[in-house]
Formats: sequence, C-alpha cells, structure tokens
Amino acid sequence: MSVLIKGGRIVTAADTIVGDVLVEGERVSRIGTDLGSDADTVIDAGGKLVLPGLVDPHTHLDMPFGGTTTIDDVTSGHAAAAFGGTTCHVDFCIQGKGQTFAEALADWHAKREGKALIDMGYHIAVTDLSPPGRLEELATLPGQGITSYKLFMAYKGALQVDDETLFRTMQVAARTGALVMVHAENGDAIDVLVREALAAGNTAPHFHALTRPPETEGEATNRAIQLARVAGAPLYVVHVSCREAVEPIAKARRNGWDVWGETCTQYFFVDYTFLERPDFEGAKYVYTPPPRAKANQEVLWDAVRTDVLSAISTDHCGFLWDGQKTMGRDDFSKIPNGSPGLENRLHMIHHFGVGAGRISLNRMVELLCTNPARLFGLYPRKGTIVPGSDADIVIFDPAKKKLISAADQHSKTDYNLYEGTEVTGDVDVTLVRGTVVVQDGELQVEPGFGQFVERARFGEELR
Ligand code: URP
Ligand code: ZN
Ligand code: ZN
Repeated sequence: MSVLIKGGRIVTAADTIVGDVLVEGERVSRIGTDLGSDADTVIDAGGKLVLPGLVDPHTHLDMPFGGTTTIDDVTSGHAAAAFGGTTCHVDFCIQGKGQTFAEALADWHAKREGKALIDMGYHIAVTDLSPPGRLEELATLPGQGITSYKLFMAYKGALQVDDETLFRTMQVAARTGALVMVHAENGDAIDVLVREALAAGNTAPHFHALTRPPETEGEATNRAIQLARVAGAPLYVVHVSCREAVEPIAKARRNGWDVWGETCTQYFFVDYTFLERPDFEGAKYVYTPPPRAKANQEVLWDAVRTDVLSAISTDHCGFLWDGQKTMGRDDFSKIPNGSPGLENRLHMIHHFGVGAGRISLNRMVELLCTNPARLFGLYPRKGTIVPGSDADIVIFDPAKKKLISAADQHSKTDYNLYEGTEVTGDVDVTLVRGTVVVQDGELQVEPGFGQFVERARFGEELR
C-alpha cells in the first residue's frame, strides 16, 4: 500500500519545504517537490501543514492513583491522542507493592493488548528496590526496550522513593544506558505542610498549591541534578512548572551537564487562581506540581524558546470531576491529582506559541515531536519525516477554527482545562505507520492497531 501526501508545507525541526511525501508500506520512502500522483491513496495537503506525528513522553492511562483509577484507558486515551495529532506516547508502568518489574510489566502490557490505536512504549516507575534481585532486574529492562527509569520524589506514603533508591537507580542507569526521569518535589516537606493545613481546617482545593510551594520543586530539582552528576546518569525532569525549577536546569545546561527538562501544556495557561474557582470547580485544576502564579508562564515560554526546557508533554492523567475529583470535597489531599490534556497539546501550542510569535513552527515540532523522540529512544523512526522514518504524519489545517470543549472531546473526562478557548488550527488527518487513523472527524482503525515500541537506549537511534 502507498500513500502520497501532495503539496503540503512539510515542517520538521530543521526544515520547511513545500512538497510531497510518499509513503510505501509503513514508512516514508521519498520526499520531493513533485512525486507525481501514482499511489494507492492520494491526499491533497495544499495549504496544510504536514507535521511529524506528535510524541508524548508523559501520560498516565488506566493508572491506579489517589484512591481511584485514571478514567482514560488505552483506547479512549489513544482516541484523544490521535484526534490531537499524537501518534506515539510513552506511558508509565508503575511497580506495585511487592512486585518485580516483570510482574508490573505483565500487568501494564495486559492493559494495552488489543486496545491500542497508536504506538506506545513504557517507562518503568521504580518504587521499591529493597528486595534482593531488584537492582539486577532493573538493569535488564533496557534490553526489553524499557529505556527510562522514573522516580517520584513526592507522594509520600504512595509512590515516593527515598534518596537511596533514587541514587541507586541513577547508578544503574549510568551503566545500562537508561534515562532517569524525576518528579521533582520535596515530598517530606509537602507532607508536613499538608497535615498542618488540614489540622487548621484548610480543606479547599487551592490549599493543594499552598502546601506545595515552588521552593519544594526547586529544591528537589536541584537535588536530583546533583545526585545525577555524582552517579554519572543522564536526567530528565518532568513537568517543570516554575522559575525555581527552571533555574537549576538552566544552570545545568549552561554547564553542559546531561540534564533535560519538560513542561506541560497546562502550565502555560492555567494559573493558581483557577484553583480558587467556586463550587469545587477548582478541583479540576488539582494536578502536581500545582498551577503556579501567572508570572511563571512567561518564564516557561522563555525556557522552551531558549532550549532550557526541551519538550512539552501533557502529563495526561484524567479523572472525572463528578465522582472522582469530588472524592476530595472535604479534604483537598483526597482529590486525585491529575488533569486531561492529550487531545489539545497541538491546538494550544500552535495557536498560543506559534500563532502569538513566541516560538517558530520548527521549534514547535522540535518540542512536541523530535526532542521527545530523541530523548526517549524513538528517533528517527518517530519524531521526524525523513525517508526511512515511520509514516506517522499529521496533516494540520493552520486556518481552521476550533472551539475547545469537553462536549466533543474523545477523552472520557467530563471537563476540559481549556473549555471555551477558540484556537486557529486543527488536525485534518492523522496517519500512524502509513495507515490513516483519523480522517473526516472519524476514527478509522480498530483497537489493537497500535503497537508496543521497544525503544533504543539513551543516545542511540531506533531504526
Ligand atoms: O498530578 C499529576 N501530575 N498526576 C500524575 C502523576 C504525576 O505526578 O505525574
Ligand atoms: Zn509527577
Ligand atoms: Zn505524570
């Protein structure tokens, strides 16, 4: 089967050309200015952008968390992703209590099998290295295509690890070629602040932010950076939300240390005041790190523009407001932490990033596609459009208006962080490995089409 995408503006991190893309089988075979019209399917992309499929390095589908389970399973999460132009993501396989990594992976593969619409991989979230054999087992995972280790420095009593576990994992990564990812907040200090707030009767959603001040994120970010240097491991700091965390990353990168950071779409648009919305609506914005004071938004735009931060993910971790977020009506610490976002990353960053002149189209592609693919061992099969790459392609109409609303989203969540926002630019067609997955506003493939991707080790290419 062949697909010819004709006359679009093909945008990669490095180049922009107007031309054609020929797909043969699952991969891009040629790019040129006139490749004729001889193909099984011809798609007219005149006036449209032809972008690499987006790669989301940070999602939580079908994950038990905060006393409940995220509402999007692999199929609904993938529908949301595909309609938003995301063709590949890396989700978290969480090591449960007492589990070996093999047991955890078996559980998470079972959540995926027969359900995927797009391609995906797993990071392993390490929670316990104490039983004999765990460190050795951790070292074997890159050989199975699990080439990133995630550690939570917060969520005391749940996912949080101590510094010994963090450091030992970094030492393993330094010799196995895995990338270490951290959720960087000082969970011990936060736990004290949360208990104090509740004891004082402060139960409303905005206390979620007041008990997780930016300094706790800055401190943990710096701690992780310094420990990674000692261990000699590359480090990726997830969901950076504030100046206090940007600054140590900027310093590390100035010094040439192996440190990268991501932020997430929501941190550019949702600020602390959203948590104060009445009638418990603030709970919709309870995610971690929390929405920050508005001044941080320009800090983040500046950081993604100047390559202090290298990727924008979604941290998609969707819960229903009605029935899940409401578990914390009388106690903000019982509101499950997380928010949906897989569907609107491209809409929001294209409109408010490129459209407002904050970043170029090429930089947008770098942040949403190429850098996540490079950092997580998917490049150049994913994250770019070159001969030989997977034909994961988004045909994006940069002039089409879209009103963002939960009413027509594909995520199962009952709200949207960006409700009522009108953007210019929407996805026309999404292809995964040469197959049309979304077209004419309809899903075109069945669950099970998406594949698990064994990723390359950090710094290596996936061919
Ligand atoms: O609130 C969030 N971010 N939920 C997902 C888990 C995490 O910390 O990434
Ligand atoms: Zn986190
Ligand atoms: Zn997350």
